[in-house]
Amino acid sequence: MRTEVRKVAGDSPIEAGHLPRLEFLQAVIHESLRLRALVPMAAVRVAKRPFRVGPYLVPEGRVVAECLAVMSLREDLFPEPLNFDPDRFSSRRPQHYEWTPFGGGRRICTGKGFAQLEMLTVMATIVQRCRLRLVTEHNQAVRKGHLLVPKDGLRVVLEKRR
Ligand code: HEM
Repeated sequence: MRTEVRKVAGDSPIEAGHLPRLEFLQAVIHESLRLRALVPMAAVRVAKRPFRVGPYLVPEGRVVAECLAVMSLREDLFPEPLNFDPDRFSSRRPQHYEWTPFGGGRRICTGKGFAQLEMLTVMATIVQRCRLRLVTEHNQAVRKGHLLVPKDGLRVVLEKRR
């Protein structure tokens, strides 16, 4: 990530024009969102009328939800799904109904574009200027509201790069 950011922006502040060229960093963000679902259960809908999903008949009034955390671990979509491998997104953009950390359909996250732009800008700036050192070794993910978060928080030391 650092090599790419240095190549694209050098020591200059990260600007909008740099972002489309940060392809590897973008892939790292896509892969992080896949493997560490922030919203494990989303796209909650109530069936207005009966409909079929594969072999299942969903009756009217039934609540259906997509489990994003399970979806992103499907082996047929993401071979060796537990491996952190940004390269699965380096030559191929995430597909709409395979990679769904922001939900899908009409009620897809309104902030999807903004959140991704923000993550790319912030991560590029951090990688360019700082070194991150993880302090917390092991951490169980737990539900907090509708989010999945580290049980005991996550301590990271931020060191300024010289
Ligand atoms: C990494 C950051 C974020 C993630 C992973 C995320 C994920 C999600 C998910 C999974 C949904 C449910 C979509 C569905 O039901 O199909 C959602 C809805 C929503 N998100 Fe986000 N979100 C993020 C950031 C943001 C930001 C930054 C904003 C606002 C600036 C935002 C605004 C919304 C709104 C308004 C909805 C409700 C949309 C609706 O029901 O029509 N989100 N988000």
